[in-house]
Amino acid sequence: KTCILIGAPMDSGKKRQGCLMGPDAYRVAGIGPALADLGHDVIDIGNIGPDPAEAHPDLPAHVHAPAEMIGWTRALARAAGEALPRGLPIFLGGDHGLALGSVLGAADHAAAMGRPLFVLWLDAHTDYHTPQSTASGNLHGAPLGYVTGRPGFHGFPEVKTPVPHENICLLGLRSVDPDEREAMQATDVRYHDMRSIDETGIARPLAAFLEDVAKANGMLHVSLDVDFLDPSFAPAVGTTVPGGATMREAHLAMEMICDAGLMTSLDLVELNPFLDDRGRTAQVMVDLAASALGRRVFDRPTRAYS
Ligand code: ARG
Ligand code: MN
Ligand code: MN
Ligand code: MN
Repeated sequence: KTCILIGAPMDSGKKRQGCLMGPDAYRVAGIGPALADLGHDVIDIGNIGPDPAEAHPDLPAHVHAPAEMIGWTRALARAAGEALPRGLPIFLGGDHGLALGSVLGAADHAAAMGRPLFVLWLDAHTDYHTPQSTASGNLHGAPLGYVTGRPGFHGFPEVKTPVPHENICLLGLRSVDPDEREAMQATDVRYHDMRSIDETGIARPLAAFLEDVAKANGMLHVSLDVDFLDPSFAPAVGTTVPGGATMREAHLAMEMICDAGLMTSLDLVELNPFLDDRGRTAQVMVDLAASALGRRVFDRPTRAYS
């Protein structure tokens, strides 16, 4: 594959700063060579920045950095649209606010290809807010609200092809705000909280989802938030929530994504190197990306989980 690394040193999705160092931390942790060692062509386009933009008067006043968010969304959607015809874009965040743009660009590209887009959201949070429903004002908690076409994103690029709720699978949930829960429960999104992963394992719900992506000849965007992982081994994130995915669950998920051969774009988000412990979280994220792109101990036949 041709892996296209796109640095998005973005901090505007929330008030706490530090994710802007993420792209450099991934590079220092060796993401380029790790993917090249697996036989991929790796193109690092460097870091991009937000388009100049203005806030919109109809956005609620408590929304953090609205102009920057609009500018980043435009720039990231364009970067996704330019990269997808050439290879597999890997967005090096930056906070999860980058997914407003990366998923928008993927949705537009999929529509142009006449294929459905599916989204796998690996996160402690649902990130399903609107600018009106968010209590924090932090739009890193809103990308799934945006790309599914929820209203209220004034001034943001129009979402011409909203991602259908039934094409979205969330794994790892353990911190969901009441209004997100209510809104999400009214949709046919597939959500698996940590309790359901405890009960059924991570392989079963993921295999079922990947099967549906394959049947629909879909494109698959994977969005990996550091806080999907348990903070005991991935501490470098501002929104730690105890009780996350284990190292093994996370690698299994990535290996299954690789086996399925369906992933067409990837976000690595919310790494805050300022909070890291000797680079270990950056390294874990690089290792997970490598698992998703072919690193394995032994080859084995793809098995069914049912
Ligand atoms: N739901 C909370 C909020 O809206 C937390 C969102 C955390 N999102 C994230 N991408 N880490 O503020
Ligand atoms: Mn998130
Ligand atoms: Mn999160
Ligand atoms: Mn819908």
